[in-house]
Amino acid sequence: MTPDVEFRSVSKVFGDFLAVDDISFSVPQGSFFSLLGPSGCGKTTTLRMTSGFEWPDRGEVLIAGRDMQNVPAYARSTNMVFQRWALFPHMTVAQNVAFGLEVDRRPRAEINKRVGEALELVGLSEFSTRKPRQLSGGQMQRVALARALVKQPKVLLLDEPLGALDLKLRMQMQLELKRIQREVGTTFMYVTHDQSEALTMSDRIAVMNKGRIDQLDTPQAIYDRPATRFVASFIGNANLIPVEILESSDTDAKVSAGGLQFNVPITQRLTGNGGIVSLRFERIRIGPDAKKQQVKADATVRDVIFSGSSITYVMKLAGGDIDLTVEAPHDGTSSPYSVGETVAVGWDGSAATAFSDEQNDG
Ligand SMILES: Nc1ncnc2c1ncn2[C@@H]1O[C@H](COP(=O)(O)OP(=O)(O)OP(=O)(O)O)[C@@H](O)[C@H]1O
Ligand SMILES: [Mg+2]
Repeated sequence: MTPDVEFRSVSKVFGDFLAVDDISFSVPQGSFFSLLGPSGCGKTTTLRMTSGFEWPDRGEVLIAGRDMQNVPAYARSTNMVFQRWALFPHMTVAQNVAFGLEVDRRPRAEINKRVGEALELVGLSEFSTRKPRQLSGGQMQRVALARALVKQPKVLLLDEPLGALDLKLRMQMQLELKRIQREVGTTFMYVTHDQSEALTMSDRIAVMNKGRIDQLDTPQAIYDRPATRFVASFIGNANLIPVEILESSDTDAKVSAGGLQFNVPITQRLTGNGGIVSLRFERIRIGPDAKKQQVKADATVRDVIFSGSSITYVMKLAGGDIDLTVEAPHDGTSSPYSVGETVAVGWDGSAATAFSDEQNDG
C-alpha cells in the first residue's frame, strides 16, 4: 500500500541553521503517526513541509505517492489544526465548520449534511448555534477539529492542538482524538513535545532530536527498547547510571557500577569502556519483591515523595555513590519506607538498556 506521506532524505536550512537534517520516514494510510521531540527539534518545520507552507532544501516529500515539489499548499490533500484554533468569533459553531465548504462553493444541502456529520463526530451537535466565546477550551478545540475534518483531507496535520488545555481535559481529548481518528480512518500526523500524549495515541512515533529522527517505532518499542541515550532520557522517567563496560556483544553487555555487576541488553553496539545504563523508575522493585529479581542490592532511602497512585523513593545504593530513583505503586495496604531506612532493591536485566559514553546524541 502506498504510504500517505513519505519523506526521502529531507533537509531544511534557515539561514545557516540546519533545522531538519536528512530525515526519511513514511506514514501508512489510516495510521496515527506522531512527531515527538523537545522544543526546537524541527517538528513544526516537518509538518509545514508536509502541508506546503515550507519547502525542503534537499530531498523529496511525497503525498499518496506523488512528489509535492511543485504542488502549493492549497492543492495538497492535507489540512492543518493549529495550537491556536483561530475560530471566527462572529460566526456560530456550524458556520465555523461550514466555512471551508462555503469557500469551495459546495451545494447548500451537501454543506448542511457534512457539517451535521462533523459536529456529530466531535460530539457538538447541540452546540451548533453557539458562538466560540460561549464554549469551553475543549469545545473550541473540537470545533477546530470538525472544521478540518469536514473538508475530508487525506492527511490531517495537527500541531500541538491540545497545548492550550489543562491536564485533565488534555487527557480526555487524547482518547477522543484517537476515537475520532479510528472512526473516520483519516491519516493523522500529530506533533507534540508531550511524550505521554504521543504514547497514548500513536500507532507509530518518530522521536526527533536536533533535526534528526533518533527512533521510529511503536510506542511500546520506543519505551521498552530506546535506540539512543536521548530517547531513553526523553521518554518516561529513567535513572541514567554511569557504568564501566566489562564485556559486550551484539545484543547485551556486562557492566559494573558501585560494586555491582550485571547484564543489560543493548540496542546499539557499544564502544569504549565507559557507558550509561538507563533504568526506568517503575521497573525497580523495592522491599520483599526485590528478592525475585536478577539484580539485587541494598539502598538507603533519602527522600520519599507521595503522589497518590505511586510513591517515589530517592535512594542511594549501598557501598557506592549511585543515586537511584524508584517508583513503586501505592496500593494503600502497606505504609511507605521512611527516610534513612535501608531496603532491598532489585530489577530484571531486561528493565535496563546500556549506551556508550561516546554516543554523541544527547
Ligand atoms: N522561519 C524560520 N526562520 C529561522 N529559523 C526558524 C524558522 N522556523 C523555525 N526556525 C528554527 O528551526 C528550528 C526548528 O523549529 P520548529 O518550529 O520546527 O521546532 P519545533 O520542534 O516545532 O519546536 P516547538 O516544540 O518549540 O514548537 C528552531 O530552532 C527554530 O528556531
Ligand atoms: Mg512547533
